[in-house]
Amino acid sequence: MTIESEHDLVKLMKIGRICGLTVQYIARHLEPGITTRELDRLGADFLEKHGARSAPIVTYKFPGATCISINDEVAHGIPGDRVVQAGDMVNIDVSAELEGYFADTGASFIVPPIDPVKQRLCDFTRVALDKAIDVARSGSPINVIGKAIESEAKRGGYSLIRELGGHGIGRGLHEEPRNIPNFYHPKARFPLHEGLVMTIEPFLCMGKGKIYTDRDGWTLKTIDGTFAAQYEHTIVITKDRPILVTAI
Ligand code: CO
Ligand code: CO
Repeated sequence: MTIESEHDLVKLMKIGRICGLTVQYIARHLEPGITTRELDRLGADFLEKHGARSAPIVTYKFPGATCISINDEVAHGIPGDRVVQAGDMVNIDVSAELEGYFADTGASFIVPPIDPVKQRLCDFTRVALDKAIDVARSGSPINVIGKAIESEAKRGGYSLIRELGGHGIGRGLHEEPRNIPNFYHPKARFPLHEGLVMTIEPFLCMGKGKIYTDRDGWTLKTIDGTFAAQYEHTIVITKDRPILVTAI
């Protein structure tokens, strides 16, 4: 969507904050022994307490209020019986709706003890998101985002999961533009415009970056079993630095 009034922005910021807080709330409970179903339950309760509805459920009938993806799972992990282990890398992705407005945010966490190899992947992915946010402004072609992300991935020696990218959001979970590449695409020159609500969500990977869908029909995994990290914010494009909708 494009923000057209103060009312739009206030409502969007409200659900953005709830999504950001939900990720933090779930992350505070990350410890060895907890199941992903229990983590999801915490997220579902938190959303409900704030009057919000899980976007994956509302939009796709996803079998969980949140997506929780561990290690070689890249995204769309279904909460279930899986038990979190020490050293796991856990991605928590929360998208939700309140009063007709949607926001989406995610982050990867390492359960201690922290392996510096995994930490480095997370650090580069977070910086890739920050750098892409820095260059996203009205009038710039949409490919400035992928350019910033790709150069950061290369600097770290990581691959990108090319099938996954950012997307428009606001009145629905996935809106136009539906796929904002995380790599430099010379022809993606569609200009960003003021008020555009979208996500940026780089996925950096230690291996080749090729993925497949698990037999469960949802979970995306790396073919080579390597780990991928993701950080995601919903933003509003302006003439200057974007407004961060989901940052706490
Ligand atoms: Co997300
Ligand atoms: Co998203």
